[in-house]
Amino acid sequence: MTIQSAIQPSLLEVENLHVAVDGKEILKGLTLSLGCGEVHAIMGPNGSGKSTLSLCLMGHPKYTITQGRILYKGQDIQQLAVNERAAAGIFLAFQYPTAIPGVTIVNFLRSALRGVRGTDVPIKEFRQTVKTHLKTLGIADSFMNRYVNDGFSGGEKKRLEILQMAVLAPALAVLDETDSGLDIDALKTVAAGINAQRSSQRGILLITHYQRLLNYVIPDRVHVMVDGCVVRSAGPELAHELEAKGYEGLRPHTQTLCV
Ligand SMILES: Nc1ncnc2c1ncn2[C@@H]1O[C@H](COP(=O)(O)OP(=O)(O)O)[C@@H](O)[C@H]1O
Ligand SMILES: [Mg+2]
Repeated sequence: MTIQSAIQPSLLEVENLHVAVDGKEILKGLTLSLGCGEVHAIMGPNGSGKSTLSLCLMGHPKYTITQGRILYKGQDIQQLAVNERAAAGIFLAFQYPTAIPGVTIVNFLRSALRGVRGTDVPIKEFRQTVKTHLKTLGIADSFMNRYVNDGFSGGEKKRLEILQMAVLAPALAVLDETDSGLDIDALKTVAAGINAQRSSQRGILLITHYQRLLNYVIPDRVHVMVDGCVVRSAGPELAHELEAKGYEGLRPHTQTLCV
């Protein structure tokens, strides 16, 4: 290991994060560290604060950091707006993607890329890039001419989120319940799309309620969130343990592990 790599900061450091929305504290001392090239899963029961964490990482103005900090590539990003975070290489795949009738996917993706990179990719070249990613995701080329999420099935919405990640090529991708509502075939193609995006240049936070996605995308670490804190972190075997035992057994630790 060189001296330079030894002092390189983690891609993402979340330190004792407390976050409130509308005056209610939801994250209560969450600590997490994600290195470049790693995939970490965040699991937890409904209402534990997983989506709050993802929206806070992306900079949703409604979520107020009351204590702690988020370091991205060693820098505190609290003051950065959503578009600045996107330009810095942070990406969020929404749990509940929004429809934008009248805006085609190809135009949407191209504008998003322009927003992130600050320059345009020629349309012909861009369509070709999108086609390549569509193939990986098992989607017909005509998909790019449809309006964003307009009348989409759950599987199509989630595939579009992965397509966005593939096109934007972020350094940090936060995927919030990208497996929810998918049948087994769609789950496999979405997982293949995520695996295709694994890279030494990228860290991925895979937020999921269920273990089944983790059969196809094997994470480096699994963190369990309960009531706004990470209560346990371990290797991928933790996901199997949760599948067998559920989250109930982890609740008593909450008080002792929260900061
Ligand atoms: N905008 C909001 N206003 C009030 N409460 C919220 C808001 N967003 C989230 N919450 C509450 O925060 C808790 C955590 O929600 P969420 O982050 O969506 O959990 P998860 O994604 O783990 O299911 C829930 O009790 C939820 O009701
Ligand atoms: Mg959620």
